[in-house]
Amino acid sequence: MIDITDMMRQTVNYSKSGRIKINPADSYSIKDNVWDNWAPFVLSGLHKYGGAVSDLGIVGTGAGADAIGVKLGFIAYNLFVTNLDENDLSLALMNLSPYMGGRSLQGYTGNLLEPFIERGIKLDIIVENLANIPISDEEFELETSGSFFNEQHLASFNNELAEAYLLLPHYACLVQAKQVLKSRGRLVMAIGGRVPLDIVKNMVEGEGYSYKEIFTGIKVQTEPEEVLQSYAKAEQKLEFDFYALPPHMVDAINLGIVQQFNMDGERLKKGLTRHRINAKEALRLYEQGKTIGHTVHVVSAWNKS
Ligand SMILES: C[S@@+](CC[C@H](N)C(=O)[O-])C[C@H]1O[C@@H](n2cnc3c(N)ncnc32)[C@H](O)[C@@H]1O
Repeated sequence: MIDITDMMRQTVNYSKSGRIKINPADSYSIKDNVWDNWAPFVLSGLHKYGGAVSDLGIVGTGAGADAIGVKLGFIAYNLFVTNLDENDLSLALMNLSPYMGGRSLQGYTGNLLEPFIERGIKLDIIVENLANIPISDEEFELETSGSFFNEQHLASFNNELAEAYLLLPHYACLVQAKQVLKSRGRLVMAIGGRVPLDIVKNMVEGEGYSYKEIFTGIKVQTEPEEVLQSYAKAEQKLEFDFYALPPHMVDAINLGIVQQFNMDGERLKKGLTRHRINAKEALRLYEQGKTIGHTVHVVSAWNKS
């Protein structure tokens, strides 16, 4: 069992004495350090800047830590979660059931937003923090990391820039969300700032949405070996942004101090300039024992109409 009590205390102000423990999922392992996970970034954004809504869906909830936070933080009344894998979905539903307080919970298996589209489900908020690195069907079968996606699952999506910058799953969600969002609904995306932010903003606006950053921070690169190798390989005609983090900054990230500033994303990246390295350098420095990080941007995309 994994204890996510501290994650809930630091993000949705959970203040009860009972500990919150969940079963681990195969598709994404919750890390011991709170801020080594994606869920605290998403939850901080939703909790501090969101307000409560009726219907919220989470694509790829993994073990359901983000979904538990949504419930504990009174962010949504009805919750809809998905996982690619049947076993992970059952496990997430089991993890979630003690926290539902009689409210509605629906779980589906399926690719991207298809489970919602197929059922005609309309949502106020869709949350996604899908993996960025494409791998083959065969490799995906063996993969237990949350950093990779099956390229077959996104075969019908084409966007040259999104592909080059390893953002294709986020682009796919933007396309599909149009069929799922209510008229004033929004898609909340947690994106690693390894790419120039104007690429993300242009991708969102290019699909006809308005763009707003709701939370930013810095995250230590988890699974560094395999992730940095993949980014270094994709660094052909472009460069990614990583940061060689000095030890005092790693401490400040782990304690949640950096995230309290919630700086504007561009300012945050500018402030980190002197630590900035590309993916190839990041891989080399990691192999020499340096801690590598990247910025995180929780972005809200909503329909202009
Ligand atoms: C970075 S993990 C995040 C897990 C969870 N949201 C959390 O914060 O703990 C990404 C998740 O996306 C899921 N995923 C990958 N490709 C997907 C796809 N095509 N459709 C739906 N989910 C997918 C993975 O199974 C994994 O659980």
